[in-house]
Amino acid sequence: MTRIAYTNGMFVPHDYATVSMDDRGYHFADSVYEVIAYNQRGFFVDGKRHLDRLRSSLKALNIPFRMSDQALFLVMHELVRKNRHSEGYVYLQITRGIAPRDHLVRDFLEPTLAMFAEHCTFQETPPHLKVFTVPDIRWKRNDIKSTSLLGVVVGKYQAANKGGDEAWLVNDEGFVTEGGATNAWIVTHKGVVQTHPATNAILNGITRQRLIEIAKDVSIVVEEKPFTVEDAKSAREAFLTSSTKGVHPIIEIDDQKIGNGLMGDITQKLQKAYWHFYQHTKNDYGEIS
Ligand code: PDD
Repeated sequence: MTRIAYTNGMFVPHDYATVSMDDRGYHFADSVYEVIAYNQRGFFVDGKRHLDRLRSSLKALNIPFRMSDQALFLVMHELVRKNRHSEGYVYLQITRGIAPRDHLVRDFLEPTLAMFAEHCTFQETPPHLKVFTVPDIRWKRNDIKSTSLLGVVVGKYQAANKGGDEAWLVNDEGFVTEGGATNAWIVTHKGVVQTHPATNAILNGITRQRLIEIAKDVSIVVEEKPFTVEDAKSAREAFLTSSTKGVHPIIEIDDQKIGNGLMGDITQKLQKAYWHFYQHTKNDYGEIS
């Protein structure tokens, strides 16, 4: 089956989708993105929240993107329909636009929008993951979902070389900020769930935001408070979250077993609750025909 992408205002076969050599996204990673999962019923999971975050990333970088949410959702739905995956995600990227290479933005540019869809299956029983801690060498605005991800690429590579599934990024003060492409969580021995507060040091994950609400519904206490590597290694449970993974248990950090080396009770409760939400969610932005 031909994969279809969306570039330059058109749906085209994925392999033939092109961007200009002079696109600032290519020269400077002067661009933002979103990864939005859709479930087996074809509904985007927290779609409106993703587009709200996209708008705040665009605003932070002063990229004037004029297309409405309704129009964006229309293209996203059409992309999903054309690709005929049972479930998956849409990758959406907006760059500042095309101009001869110059660090300074001199003129008003027309932003470039590109999207592709990828098949992926959300797992009811998620794999148990191992993570390795690496230094967080990124810039200071990780709240912006920018495509400038070299700090993460280096960190994930270091973790993967040791046999890790994900990198946990550690700042100069010894606190875990987040994962390479996920948010990081632990469960203390008092049964309290802890995750880094939504400052500029992390991306405020949409799954993270949703899970904090879900935790309240199932009477689990969440504290948005930084934790150290030592806190994590001696925690009762640990897990990570993202739009493409949902809630995944972590059973080892730096080769050290967490808890009994299996998914813990609280992680399991949250994982099941999020899975239920994911499966039953409907569009949160009105009807798209
Ligand atoms: N990554 N932190 C970072 C650094 C991320 O890149 C991501 C998402 C998250 C989780 O955010 P959310 O719950 O909104 O997916 C946290 C996406 C999936 C990616 O880059 O592919």
